[in-house]
Amino acid sequence: MSEMLTITIDGKECTCEKGEYIYDVARRNNIPIPVLCRSDAFADHRACCRICIVEVEERGRRKVVTSCVYPVSQECAVYTKSEKILEERAVIFALLAHRAPDAKRIADMNAAMGSDGFDRLVTIDNEKCILCGLCVQACDSLGTGAISTVLRGTEKKVDTPYALPSEFCVGCLSCANVCPTGAIEYSQTDTTRTIWNREFNLAFCEKCGNLMGTPESIQHAVGAQGEAPRVCDECRKKELANEMMQTYRYV
Ligand code: SF4
Ligand code: FES
Repeated sequence: MSEMLTITIDGKECTCEKGEYIYDVARRNNIPIPVLCRSDAFADHRACCRICIVEVEERGRRKVVTSCVYPVSQECAVYTKSEKILEERAVIFALLAHRAPDAKRIADMNAAMGSDGFDRLVTIDNEKCILCGLCVQACDSLGTGAISTVLRGTEKKVDTPYALPSEFCVGCLSCANVCPTGAIEYSQTDTTRTIWNREFNLAFCEKCGNLMGTPESIQHAVGAQGEAPRVCDECRKKELANEMMQTYRYV
């Protein structure tokens, strides 16, 4: 059994396992810490936005850490809203707002923080992406690898190779769904979905007619040799339940 520790977060006593991240302990104890690049979809957190910073006091020494990847190793006091943290977080928000002025979530958080912009910084027009990499992580974790970060410096962005429709993309929307700022755009009609400059047909459950995804994403989920399901999970569960009822009826 792992070692248990008691820490304080903003004065509240919280019990946690040694090695748990401060952000997770705070969230479990209903103590809000803002996050952007942290997703529960992955165990591996890249910690690039830094808005989750907190101050940690260990053995009488205080330091600023990113709470989403800082493991509790000893008893400590955590401050999520100290003067230093509020100041530094406001700067981070202001920088993000220059980087991605069209990201509503950042604009809202920035307004709530009351942070000002910086005259010296160039704002990137029409940008929503903060380059957190979650979309690439999602695509890689599915084994599709259709998108990556391309170019450098201020030109750096997420895209398919050469901005062409990718043969590896399966149109699953994992990238768009995990994006914290709504930066990945796609469109959908009754029968098609377009993302990363590629149009996909949509597949519907043969029983209930609910949308199941694109044929490519459904096939990808079962592997190249697998038989793609023609009914959705819900209908499959109902079918299984019916089959079990029939079996019991005849024993
Ligand atoms: S598109 Fe969204 S998920 Fe991808 S890097 Fe940009 S902000 Fe992050
Ligand atoms: S949420 Fe922790 S660094 Fe982005």
